[in-house]
Amino acid sequence: MLLKDKVCLILGAASLRSIGYGTAELFAEHGAKVVVADVKMDAETLNAVKLSIQSKLGNSVSVHGFSCDISSPTDCDKLVSEVVALHGTIDCLVNSAGIVRNIPILELAEKDLDLMFDINLKGAFYICQSVLKVFVEKKSGTIVNVASSAAQRGGGLVGGSHYAASKGGMLSLTKSIAREFAALGIRANSICPAMIETPMLDGLSEERLKGIVDAIPLKRVGTTREMAGACLFLSSELSGFVTGSNIDVNGGTHIH
Ligand SMILES: NC(=O)c1ccc[n+]([C@@H]2O[C@H](COP(=O)([O-])OP(=O)(O)OC[C@H]3O[C@@H](n4cnc5c(N)ncnc54)[C@H](O)[C@@H]3O)[C@@H](O)[C@H]2O)c1
Repeated sequence: MLLKDKVCLILGAASLRSIGYGTAELFAEHGAKVVVADVKMDAETLNAVKLSIQSKLGNSVSVHGFSCDISSPTDCDKLVSEVVALHGTIDCLVNSAGIVRNIPILELAEKDLDLMFDINLKGAFYICQSVLKVFVEKKSGTIVNVASSAAQRGGGLVGGSHYAASKGGMLSLTKSIAREFAALGIRANSICPAMIETPMLDGLSEERLKGIVDAIPLKRVGTTREMAGACLFLSSELSGFVTGSNIDVNGGTHIH
């Protein structure tokens, strides 16, 4: 049990096929009090998440959920208040909420940039700010921001340049949090996944997917469970001396 009784807030967990859900399930297995949040988290969705986790782990696991649009600072503050009212504190944040769009650079309109940056980048700032207020008071806490290999390689594979730039900003934000709050014992790290089997890959044609998979040394896409493993490491004491770091979960794509 690596997260026994830790209150873990996981953003981006509405789909049972998402990285957020996979992380919630693994964290619950490790004894965490899991709170899932998503802009699409209504009563029916939360019920499906709960049922799925409890059918595997039993009814005694703690799973709660709230709706939250991370592009709204008010929503983020409200979510954190709700979690603190429920459990008294927050120990770990995993921010896996995000959108992907693929638009060529010269076709990008202001509204496309605004939507992407509002959710993926400003949203990351807002949810981290809201949670950090709690972490600063208790002088502990961990943050994991789920970025993307697009931040390192540039857009054009699945997401466009604006997606890549939003995730690049997320990497810089994470390092900045790590530096600014290290003295308080608060840690922040990121993960750059690529080709994890979630709804985000649904738009790719079979031929395109095959072409991408052929270029992955492990010759397959990754699972949400494998992403959850990286989140677990970075949220638990196993990574107690790791902050401002990034883990690549990409099947070896960056071996050079
Ligand atoms: N699947 C991959 O191969 C892959 C690769 C690189 C990066 N990522 C990143 O991983 C993260 C998780 O994506 P996923 O693959 O699990 O896909 P997903 O679409 O299942 O998960 C993203 C979740 O974010 C939620 N969301 C969108 N806008 C939101 C908002 N404004 N406020 C709150 N929630 C919002 C969505 O409703 C969705 O449930 C994303 O940030 C994505 O960019 C995924």
